[in-house]
Order: sequence, then C-alpha cells, then structure tokens
Amino acid sequence: MGKVALITGVTGQDGSYLAELLISKGYAVHGMVRRSSSFATGRIDHMRRSFEPGKQRLELHYGDMGDATGLRGIIEKVQPDEVYNLAAQSHVRISFDQPEYTADVVGLGVLRLLEAIRDYNQRHNRAIRFYQAGSSEMFGKVAEVPQRETTPFHPRSPYACAKAYAHWQTVNYREAYGLFAVNGILFNHESPRRGENFVTRKITRSAARIKVGLQQKLMLGNLDAKRDWGFAGDYVEAMWMMMQQPEPGDYVIATGETHSVREFLDLAFDRLKLDWRELVGVDPRYMRPSEVDILCGDSSKARSLLGWKPRVSFEELVAMMVDADLELAQMELRSRGL
Ligand code: NAP
Ligand code: GDD
Repeated sequence: MGKVALITGVTGQDGSYLAELLISKGYAVHGMVRRSSSFATGRIDHMRRSFEPGKQRLELHYGDMGDATGLRGIIEKVQPDEVYNLAAQSHVRISFDQPEYTADVVGLGVLRLLEAIRDYNQRHNRAIRFYQAGSSEMFGKVAEVPQRETTPFHPRSPYACAKAYAHWQTVNYREAYGLFAVNGILFNHESPRRGENFVTRKITRSAARIKVGLQQKLMLGNLDAKRDWGFAGDYVEAMWMMMQQPEPGDYVIATGETHSVREFLDLAFDRLKLDWRELVGVDPRYMRPSEVDILCGDSSKARSLLGWKPRVSFEELVAMMVDADLELAQMELRSRGL
C-alpha cells in the first residue's frame, strides 16, 4: 500500500504541483477544497480526469481552515500519513484589508489542524506527519542578508504576523507532543500557475496581453522591492523531502539570488521585444502600508541535509511564465474571434 497524503490548499499554485509530485510517487492524494459559487479546481482538473474510475488518486473533500469540526472529520475519514498545510489567504497586500480573517485562516487555522492531528494520533496510536507552509515574509524588516533559519522574525503585515504565529505553534507541537511537524520557510516561488494578482504573474500576463493588443497599460506598486524568486515545481519537492527525514526540523528554501521588480520587468518585456518604461505606470493602490524591502535566502541547511537545490534559474522562470502567458493571450484573442 502506498502512503496517503492530505493537502489543504490543493487548488492553489503549490497544491497543484505537490499533488502531481505525490501522485507520481504512488501516494493516494486527498485534497481539501472550499465551497464556492463557481469551480476553483482549474489547476487540478487534469489530475482528476486522467485516472480510470476506481483508480482515482486525487480525491477532494469540502472543508475550511475556519472550521475545526470539518478539519477533524476529514482527518478521521482520510487517515493520512502526511498532512501538507498549504491553505491560506496568501496575498500580503490583501491581508491589510482583511487582517482578522487572515489571522483566523493563516494563524488559528493551523492550530485547529494541529489539534485535530494531535487528538487523532493519540486516539489511534498513529504518527501523522505535518508540514506547515511557512514564509520568508516572516523575516520582514530583515535583521541580516541573506536570511537563514536562525534569522529573527520581524513580520510587516497581518499575513506575516499570522504565519509567524503558525510557525511557532508548529514548533511547539513538535516540542510539547513529539509531533513530526516541520516548517518550510519558503521564499517566493512562481510558475505559470501563479495567482494573477501576484507581481510576477501580473507582469507576465499583462506583458503578453499588451503584446497581442488585448491591454494598453500595466499599473504596479513598488518597483524597488527585491525578492528571491524560484520555481514552484522545485519548491514542492523540498516540502516532500522535509517530510521524509528521520527527524522533523525547519528549513529555508530559496535560490540565494535576489532581484528587483524592475529586473523582472526588464526580462519579461525584453522577451516580447517591448519597452516596459513606455507601458508601466505606478498606482499607489498597490503600495503596502509597510513593505518588505529585500528578501534573499540562505538554503544551505536544506542543500546539505535534504540534498535539495533549485533547478530553474531566474531567467528560465521569467521565460517560462512569459511564454505560457503569451499562449494564453493568443488563445484569448482567438476565442474573441479577433
Ligand atoms: P495560493 O495559490 O493562494 O493557494 C492558496 C490555497 O489556499 C488555495 O487552494 C485556496 O483555495 C486555499 N484557501 C484559502 N483560504 C482557505 C480557507 N479559509 N480554507 C481552506 N482553504 C483555503 O497560494 P500558494 O502560492 O499555492 O501558496 C501555498 C502556501 O504556501 C500558502 O500557505 C502560502 O501562504 C505559502 N507560501 C507561498 C509562497 C509563494 O511564493 N507561493 C511562499 C511562502 C509561503 P481557493 O482556491 O478556493 O482560493
Ligand atoms: N502583488 C503585487 N501587485 N505586488 C506588487 C505590485 C503589484 O501591482 N507592484 C509591486 N509589487 C511588489 C510588492 O510590493 C512586493 O514587494 C513584491 O512586488 C512582491 O509582491 P507579491 O508578488 O504580491 O508577493 P509577496 O512577496 O508580497 O508575497 C508572496 O511571497 C511570500 C513569500 O515571501 C506570497 O506568495 C506570499 O504568500 C508568500 O508568503
């Protein structure tokens, strides 16, 4: 029998890549999805369709990080070996508009899940393993460059404060109850499946739409922010690797390179032979009340203990995203009969 995994946030960018990875490794994968008025399963439908009836390896369950009873019910039903908690209101700017909701889902939601797992393990004499999707945003106003596992947190948004709470709850469940609980402190990771309102995808999607004449201009916020951007497909491998270790721990996952939003614009627009300086404007709506100026990670621990390293370079990542969005823009043109 293969292992059983439960992924919260399976409909998101990382959830979709992780589900693919675990299925390729022979896992039976269960995903938690929220009820919504329209389908939110666009990133995972191919996995649900591609299996023969009775042999389906991805099964979905309705649930929400705000609903402890529901979380307990899913754990009881699925009886997973590994739980990957990827669910979150994951947009930093939006967390300033919805601070309480973000704290509830991103912070308290983790506590609800940890309690459900602790209780299940105790009653059934099981040892479910737990992965928490931590974030480099926790480093915030950074104390040092690059940031590593020992760098103090100084969160700068409701989202980052909630992630810091979730991080320490995860550490505490490990220390207090002996739970195999790990924190992946992941730096920004992107892909053609990235949500359309994160800066990288917003840029590649808009550049492609401008190229084919579907859009005139792109409005952004702070162009000077620097981020350590990697490819999501590489980062989900690190999540799985952390969960296979003999002992639980916390790991920084990053490329070790940092680039500004301007540099991202340069590469993306150059690929389409466009000059972004003529096409991009700044709109204060996209600025944050407090910003994280620079993130750059030192993933030496993961590289030496897990044997993990990123495969896709910054330049390859931008090219991959631009090419995918150009294809989508051309499809959009065709579907409009233009
Ligand atoms: P994402 O694309 O925004 O996906 C978030 C997922 O969480 C979606 O499946 C979403 O469902 C689900 N979700 C949101 N609120 C929920 C709730 N109340 N109950 C249950 N599910 C809920 O995020 P991502 O980029 O894949 O990131 C995955 C995780 O890693 C997140 O926890 C994020 O904070 C963290 N992280 C991401 C990065 C990064 O650069 N991508 C870096 C560090 C950490 P819907 O589809 O229904 O909205
Ligand atoms: N979203 C967005 N939209 N960001 C913009 C824009 C814009 O129009 N213009 C400039 N930026 C800047 C932001 O101010 C920020 O400094 C940077 O671009 C990156 O913004 P996002 O792509 O929204 O990502 P993030 O770094 O705030 O958060 C992402 O990475 C975290 C890990 O460090 C998210 O995926 C988080 O969930 C994740 O934890």
